[in-house]
Amino acid sequence: MNELQDGRWTRRAFMQSSAGALAAGATAQFVGNAPLLAEDKMGQKNRLPVAIASANGIKTVEKAMTLLGQKADPLDAVIAGVNIVEDDPDDHSVGLGGLPNEDGVVELDSCCMHGPTHKAGAVAAIRNIRHPSRVARLVMQRTDHVLLVGEGALRFAKAHGFKEENLLTDKARKIWLHWKETHSAHDDWVAPEEDGAQKAAKAPQAFERTWGTINCCAVDASSNVAGVTTTSGLAYKIPGRVGDSPIIGAGLYVDNEVGAAGSTGRGESNLQNCSSFLIVELMRAGKSPEQACLETLRRVADHTEPRLRDKDGRADFGLKFYAVAKDGRYGSASLWSGAKFAVHDGTKARLEDCAYLYKR
Ligand code: GLY
Repeated sequence: MNELQDGRWTRRAFMQSSAGALAAGATAQFVGNAPLLAEDKMGQKNRLPVAIASANGIKTVEKAMTLLGQKADPLDAVIAGVNIVEDDPDDHSVGLGGLPNEDGVVELDSCCMHGPTHKAGAVAAIRNIRHPSRVARLVMQRTDHVLLVGEGALRFAKAHGFKEENLLTDKARKIWLHWKETHSAHDDWVAPEEDGAQKAAKAPQAFERTWGTINCCAVDASSNVAGVTTTSGLAYKIPGRVGDSPIIGAGLYVDNEVGAAGSTGRGESNLQNCSSFLIVELMRAGKSPEQACLETLRRVADHTEPRLRDKDGRADFGLKFYAVAKDGRYGSASLWSGAKFAVHDGTKARLEDCAYLYKR
């Protein structure tokens, strides 16, 4: 029997789910601190609580699971988890040390969503605040709005006691400066002779412009769901560019009746396809998290414009989805093979392979 009927959890389905089993007082087997429950049709063992994140989130899922084990709210757990990456100067895709916009200024995007209340908060193009995910949570909790941007988001953060700081580390500044001096032979920026970059400037190579981000979604032991996405966005972007990460339904979506989904990678493609919302809706219709991620990637690929396709017609950029169902099943898929995601299901934090559409 399908777990879901007419897009709603049936009582029978709920009682077959982990939450239902626990609600019914079923004796759960425990492995680590997590109950081991029935295998789903994909053969995956469902455990609750569970936390899933992008591959830069090993410490994130570890932290989130520790807090979930202490009965923290799932949104507080995932935000504490991604704060570790926002604080990490060596992750050039998030918070402190993030790669800046084309002017050398770090601009951050984040959103969060809380399943039990179905409330959401977000900030976009915020500068000088290293934990945009915390500001997003305050937008959710302390305003009647969902999204604040730019100067208004910064003023709101300062009103709540956040301190401004320069998020451009020396290392990130040097990476940006190298890009500035070498990405075009037709401007006035000149690279030092010694690194050979002047030569490169005469024949500009394709620069790796990352969309790195962290997404983390979790389900607690009571089957309550939450998620957060936080990023410094596309490296060297046009100032003011906003990606998918602060947009509910694109970079993140949570429905407490179904589960959560989030994304890292080319934000524009998610904005055009409402990808996270679609993944959750596909799970509602009975797809496993992995199937839902793959089907959404196919949708994105089908809608990809010719200039973004390779010679074989494949979508030629990076995009990954992460999803968790409220019964503890999880899955992830990437456009391209070789990608990993982080997960902790009560046994240990680990990286697993993403499913994929295209083999490299
Ligand atoms: N997914 C991150 C971005 O496009 O900004």
